[in-house]
Amino acid sequence: MRFRVIFILLLSLATCKKENAVTEPEFLKSTALFPIGAAIDYGRLKNSSLYKKTVTDEYTSITPENAMKWFTIHPSKDKFDFTEADYIVDFSLSEHNRIHGHTLLWYFFQDIEWVKNFVGDSAQWEQMIKNHIQTEVSHFKGKISSWDVVNEAFRDDDGSLRVEDRNPSIFDDGSIFARKVGRDYIARAFQYAHEADPDALLFYNEYGQEWSTEKIQSILAMVTDFKKRSVPIHGLGIQLHTDINASTSGIENALRELATTGLKIHISELDISVNPKSNSPFDYTDNIKQLQYNKYKFIVSAYRRIIPADQQYGITTWNVGDADSWIRGYLKRTDYPLLFDDSYQRKKTYQGFLDGLKN
Ligand code: XIL
Repeated sequence: MRFRVIFILLLSLATCKKENAVTEPEFLKSTALFPIGAAIDYGRLKNSSLYKKTVTDEYTSITPENAMKWFTIHPSKDKFDFTEADYIVDFSLSEHNRIHGHTLLWYFFQDIEWVKNFVGDSAQWEQMIKNHIQTEVSHFKGKISSWDVVNEAFRDDDGSLRVEDRNPSIFDDGSIFARKVGRDYIARAFQYAHEADPDALLFYNEYGQEWSTEKIQSILAMVTDFKKRSVPIHGLGIQLHTDINASTSGIENALRELATTGLKIHISELDISVNPKSNSPFDYTDNIKQLQYNKYKFIVSAYRRIIPADQQYGITTWNVGDADSWIRGYLKRTDYPLLFDDSYQRKKTYQGFLDGLKN
């Protein structure tokens, strides 16, 4: 009898505790077993407290969206400007967030006339890019965990190395570095970055692995070659600027192939477009929202399923709210590709990401 009373007492205590328990609010960062990142825009971080708060609450990794690119940091031959990048780095360190540097060399130049007009032989070109890489990497030494050393070096049409310009499209251009320094510029860039900060993890970052097996083959061949020559490389970024119609098997295949390298794998620039054909007007219907939810959930759970835990470097979305997305700002498309709406309210996609982390 006495035991029964004690048992009932304990049982009611437990129930009471359960009823009164305050459920911890769920955030991406508290649910994931690997870092969750966002690309961060300097102006928004500086001027919007809501943006800042969302970043603080939800993320554990930061990639500066543009602040570490050549056109921001090295605007003329003898001038480096670290204002924007330092601001993002100081903020991120104060939040104990990891910082992933993006990017030291990129074929896509926008308006950096001084680089396009630089005159020199291949040794002078090499010295110029070495100076760029080492000045930037040294400036952040000890603060930045990892770098996208080279971004988008392979072509869309046949996956070969970007060298000469072939098509008049910004996305299918050649690379001035390959032309001036030589085809081995990627390996040199990794070596120079490693010299400047031997503790930083060095990544090669690319898009389109989910639709171009040729690009994947080129990346795998590059990694094999680097390993053979002891060129330091520690990770691969798969950008995944994708859309609701993209083939899921293409995404799985890319993750599987990249994982075979044994390197860290970073989904580095995730966004899921709902209006890839740029329809106007465009209606963001419940049906489309459901497809987008499914795709976010699929990608996050595929990453967890396919990439071994010790290779999971994390998943980074390309900015925070829909209004911040480069798809609207840069590609000028009506779109809703991210996890938060224009007022930083969580969208259905947020739940998709979260469900992908759990299931
Ligand atoms: C984009 C930025 O989001 C834009 O703000 C900028 O004007 C152009 O670049 N792949 C990359 C990123 O590696 O650096 C690009 O970012 C998007 C595509």
